[in-house]
Amino acid sequence: MDTYNQAIELIKNSKYTIVFTGAGISKESGIPAFRDEGGLWNKYDPKILELSYYINNTEESWKVVKNIFYDFFIQAKPNPAHKVLAEWEKQGIVKSIITQNIDSLHQKAGSNNVIEFHGTNSSFVCLECNATFKTEALEFSDNVPLCNICNFKLKPNFIFFGEAIPVKASQQSLAETQNAELVIIIGTTGEVYPAAYIPYEAKQNGAKILEINPEKSNFSDSITDVMIQEKAGIALTKLNELLKSIQ
Ligand code: APR
Repeated sequence: MDTYNQAIELIKNSKYTIVFTGAGISKESGIPAFRDEGGLWNKYDPKILELSYYINNTEESWKVVKNIFYDFFIQAKPNPAHKVLAEWEKQGIVKSIITQNIDSLHQKAGSNNVIEFHGTNSSFVCLECNATFKTEALEFSDNVPLCNICNFKLKPNFIFFGEAIPVKASQQSLAETQNAELVIIIGTTGEVYPAAYIPYEAKQNGAKILEINPEKSNFSDSITDVMIQEKAGIALTKLNELLKSIQ
């Protein structure tokens, strides 16, 4: 049986399917990933995303953070992969998405139960008084955005290196790994912890693993049961058509 039919069997036999996504699912929306060819960490020094660096060199760091995570990301649109997952949530096939991405494309595609493990670019937080502001409420310039309550500098509400995972996201993700019968891993190298623990945790709890990625990842030869080596948009469109053909 080919990998697509094996994948369909896993999806059909699972009563509780969760999805774990990384930057690869947004590549077909034009957003570069981090570690693959042309990835962001080949162009920029990851130190710009260290919290201490942002606090101590805010003007310099903000220009790069704005260029990468706002000027470009904000105009990105969900691609067929995001849309299929949103359709599967409506059909009850997918219970939740745990994403490492901060681009809000799952929500823009219509997914509701999205756990943003690394936070989001859709809001900012004040480094002094902790007030939060919706990104679209801020006027954007090369100047560091300031809190309109205490006038201190704001930080994007996604986590920088050295920052803790949002507690609620961490707790919700753990709970999902306890319920999951199938984890669909899409577009991630599995390089970054603690996010990368999530599929391992679910596997420990008896879940099957379906992986979609044109390249092998850290999961592929360790916990993946079925691997579709294909781009997310193509693979999910094909799986969706196969599922419809047997319903
Ligand atoms: N469809 C599916 N997967 C793809 C596609 C595609 N069209 N294009 C590339 N990929 C895969 C690559 O093969 C790679 O395995 O996406 C993965 C991207 O890996 P990374 O760049 O490491 O991104 P990710 O795993 O999400 O990184 C995790 O690292 O820098 C931090 O916080 C950042 O959330 C990010 C975390």
